[in-house]
Amino acid sequence: MTVSTQRKILVTSALPYANGPIHLGHLVEYIQTDIWVRAMKSLGHHVTYVCADDAHGTAIMLKAQDNGVTPEEQIATVKASHEKDFAGFHIDFDNYYSTHSPENKALSQDIYTKLEQGGYIFTKDVEQLFDTEKGLFLADRFVKGECPECAAKDQYGDNCEVCSTTYNATELKNPYSTLSKSKPVIKSSKHYFFDLPKFSEFLKSWTRTDNRLQSSIANKLDEWFTAGLAPWDISRDAPYFGFKIPNTPADEPDKYFYVWLDAPVGYMASFKNLCDKTGLDFDEYWKQDSTAELYHFIGKDIVYFHALFWPAMLKGANLRTPTAVNAHGFLMVNGEKMSKSRGTFIKAQTYLEHLNPEYLRYYFASKLSDTVEDINLDLDDFMTKVNSDLVGKVVNIASRSAGFIHKNHDGKLSDNITEPQLLQDIIDAGDEIALAYENREFSRAMRLIMACADKANAYIDDKKPWALNKIDGKAQEVQDICTVAINIFRQLAVYLAPVLPVLTKNACEFLNVDSLNFASRKQVLTSHTINAFKPLMARIEKDKINAMVDSSKDSLAQDKPKDKTANKAVDTQMNNEFISIDDFAKVEMTVAHVLECNHVEGADKLLQFTLDVGDESTRNVFSGIAKFYKPEELSGKKVVCVTNLAPRKMKFGVSEGMILSAEKDGKLQVVILPDDMVVGAKLA
Ligand code: MSP
Ligand code: ZN
Repeated sequence: MTVSTQRKILVTSALPYANGPIHLGHLVEYIQTDIWVRAMKSLGHHVTYVCADDAHGTAIMLKAQDNGVTPEEQIATVKASHEKDFAGFHIDFDNYYSTHSPENKALSQDIYTKLEQGGYIFTKDVEQLFDTEKGLFLADRFVKGECPECAAKDQYGDNCEVCSTTYNATELKNPYSTLSKSKPVIKSSKHYFFDLPKFSEFLKSWTRTDNRLQSSIANKLDEWFTAGLAPWDISRDAPYFGFKIPNTPADEPDKYFYVWLDAPVGYMASFKNLCDKTGLDFDEYWKQDSTAELYHFIGKDIVYFHALFWPAMLKGANLRTPTAVNAHGFLMVNGEKMSKSRGTFIKAQTYLEHLNPEYLRYYFASKLSDTVEDINLDLDDFMTKVNSDLVGKVVNIASRSAGFIHKNHDGKLSDNITEPQLLQDIIDAGDEIALAYENREFSRAMRLIMACADKANAYIDDKKPWALNKIDGKAQEVQDICTVAINIFRQLAVYLAPVLPVLTKNACEFLNVDSLNFASRKQVLTSHTINAFKPLMARIEKDKINAMVDSSKDSLAQDKPKDKTANKAVDTQMNNEFISIDDFAKVEMTVAHVLECNHVEGADKLLQFTLDVGDESTRNVFSGIAKFYKPEELSGKKVVCVTNLAPRKMKFGVSEGMILSAEKDGKLQVVILPDDMVVGAKLA
């Protein structure tokens, strides 16, 4: 790679919250980014990889209170443990910082001021639930109460898990604060908003040009655009752990930036901190017309923040926008969500107590692609794959050849390559492998590398150096075969270096070479003395995995659903997971005749149906479609009813099924069947 094609690239991973330990789910992201960064560095580019702890917000403030420490102490302890975990997995940040830093304060306030000057900030009074005992406004996840629609108890402030209605926390019946258990009051306060809709046109074209986003993400954004963007509430009232909003009226209470306002600015702040230490030019990377590239690696749950708010903020502040946002899916373990009770919620620390981090780096690489599909860590497959690919194929090439070179030839390789075509093929495969790395198609890269390893092993199996070694006069031939094999091993080590930095370092020592980067790919080792072979990687033993799962088991744990975010729907919709025909067959869908349809007193959203589903009795079903239909429009129609749902007790009676309707952009349409459909017939 010549200097003229060297690209300047700044890369980030999402900033982990400073209130909990790193687990294997997080590591999907940090390992993915680290492999990409190492590959791009190996290809000769100037790459800088920064990250930081995301230190602000109510959750961290409350955690510190629980632990009886100041927020500053809390975030310092967590940061140290995060850094230790990342180092343990060989995540090689050029800088790891914190959003609670002077650089971030200055940059966030500066960007905000520019947005304000640009006319992108406005204020509005907002009514919110307020915990008078704690003196706190309550975010949705800190308040529970009865669903305003179906009266189910203990529902969070944003939506009901029983009937799926979404609402404002202020609509909950009998609300209580989960922090103090006290009854909150409704209180109004002035909030600052970022006027996102002003960026609609910009974002529509930004998200659709230059391959900035994966296509499934761009499609999801189209749905959000169609639904319409809303202004973003970026202020929080005291007490809050964060930065004060500048330029607010002196006679009004202080306001703080919502954590998600200063979090992405934390990418810039970490980079700024690095620039000040190393002399890198900050503005060259962030000015509006920068030619440096900027990539954010994130999970699919935080797309909204990175593909809408963040580019709009940068644009509004006359800064460059990201070159691309690369989203990945979520980690499943043994085909299910990580679970504390099953021992599959595995902390980075626990893993490292039992297993070599390079096993996981390789396994994730063999699973990762450029899509947002979830990644499954199947623990049996993990063991089999690592043992067969890395130990059985790659390391085996070196271990079965090195001995002969040392025993009979003093560690010296032959002075020429007797199988030049085979070696050339493997060198040539490097172009495709490099491209796969750059395109984040790591699973493809791993497959190509293993195909090369298979060729090498087939060659050795065919030549049988161990048999030749017993025949007089064959010493030269044995040396030649092993020289070819060692050279192929060298190529494979180059290709695997981004994934396996430690194995590569040890391979350098064994091969007696300085480095194994892509630039040295075409180098061939002849008449060269190698060092003694030491085992480069041990097999995974099943009992180590079992021990790890055992120590991750929390018998008291209740696996809670993850916090709901604005884009919870993304989670399910971008999951291109299949269900089996058996899963499908579990749902009994029946052609039903609407005998009666009525409004429900006291529930604006509900209609009540009396259905004939072809059995002896009629069924009573409630459906939340009153906004879209008058009862008389549905009376007498044929509809689809899910007839084997567990009956649900609601405030107004028991619902004994569900009527299918289609939803788009919040609008519901009942699936109405042709009149000649047979009542009681099952859909399949
Ligand atoms: N603090 C925010 C990010 C701010 S970026 C300006 C945050 N933190 S997090 O700790 O919850 O997550 C950090 C990253 O790890 C996110 O990209 C998230 O998607 C990813 N993951 C967290 N759990 C994960 C899995 N179980 N599986 C895969 N990735 C996951 O979000
Ligand atoms: Zn409900």
